[in-house]
Amino acid sequence: MDIKKTILPDDKLKPLYQDPLKLVFGRTFTDYMFTMEHTAEKGWHNAEIKPYQSLMLDPAANVLHYSQEVFEGQKAYKSPKDEILLFRPQENARRINHSLKRMCMPEIPEEIFLQAEGELVKLEERWIPRAVGASLYIRPAVISTEAALGVKPADRYLFFIILSPVGPYFQEGFNPVGLWVSDSYTRAAQGGTGEAKTGGNYAGTLLASKIAKDKGCSQVLWLDAVEHKYIEEVGAMNIFFIIDNKLVTPKLSGSILQGITRKSVLQIAEDLGIVPEEKQISIDELIEGIKNKKVTEAFGAGTAAVISPVGRISYKDKVYIISQETGPWAKRFFDTLTGIQYGEKEDKYGWVYKVQ
Ligand code: PLP
Ligand code: COI
Repeated sequence: MDIKKTILPDDKLKPLYQDPLKLVFGRTFTDYMFTMEHTAEKGWHNAEIKPYQSLMLDPAANVLHYSQEVFEGQKAYKSPKDEILLFRPQENARRINHSLKRMCMPEIPEEIFLQAEGELVKLEERWIPRAVGASLYIRPAVISTEAALGVKPADRYLFFIILSPVGPYFQEGFNPVGLWVSDSYTRAAQGGTGEAKTGGNYAGTLLASKIAKDKGCSQVLWLDAVEHKYIEEVGAMNIFFIIDNKLVTPKLSGSILQGITRKSVLQIAEDLGIVPEEKQISIDELIEGIKNKKVTEAFGAGTAAVISPVGRISYKDKVYIISQETGPWAKRFFDTLTGIQYGEKEDKYGWVYKVQ
């Protein structure tokens, strides 16, 4: 694929951030973006890398009314050898296509997806922070752009990629956060769109997230939509527990996002000497386990959140403390995962993708 490039003179480039670890998540954007259009007649066409700019959309554009949209979240890292590394981007290519299919949108060939982000990230190399804990967040997204108010799949789409240098996702950094368990709101139901990475899933969670914040918690721990009994995941990450010295995570239910970090943690577990288990976990079982000290740790796992220790759970107006400090397993998983992502540890799994 030929990507047309419009390059800015050096004096038009934005100033770089000062301290990358102080960057607030998703507020700073680089100089360029990638765009590509899709129509039924031409398929994917018009691939461009151009200065970061606003989009022109008709007010009747389908995405603004019916949310036909999908996105991904990835990161680019700088290795000690100054290489540009991505983490399992083929998995993101696969997942965006899974989401696109679910949302009745045209798929993107994997090699085009990888080429687009590779060329953009390469051009924006100066923005990739060198500090562990900071990285260049990659946000690919596809939106429906047809101007038509009837509810139907659109006949025009825009795929774009923007980049944002980021520090830690939570203001707590690598210190334990609190989660609020909602026993009335739900994020996704089986047969719905929970397994797709689509904007509407997140819009629907804002109200409960606001309640969580009002209660002093960072995010919501979601339960299943039918019985409000089984643990699903957190607002922007999958959840893990150390129970009886086993690594336990809710099994995929059809409504949980199939996290790439989740999959990687499960694969790393055996090598770190802990048995991984994917199973249904009820909130009652979790609370019981916290009370009788069988649950010794909890942490979230996601691209933005990396490995985020969870120190307490609020449920039905009671607070259950798991640990005030970051536990040893969260630390081990964090060190192993980030070691591979930043090219500091051996990548025996073949997960690291070098951008040439
Ligand atoms: N669950 C939700 C709802 C998310 O938004 C994310 C973030 O992408 C994850 C889980 C973790 O997925 P991944 O590890 O692929 O980033
Ligand atoms: C990510 O971890 O990349 C996500 O997409 C989470 C996000 C909603 C901030």
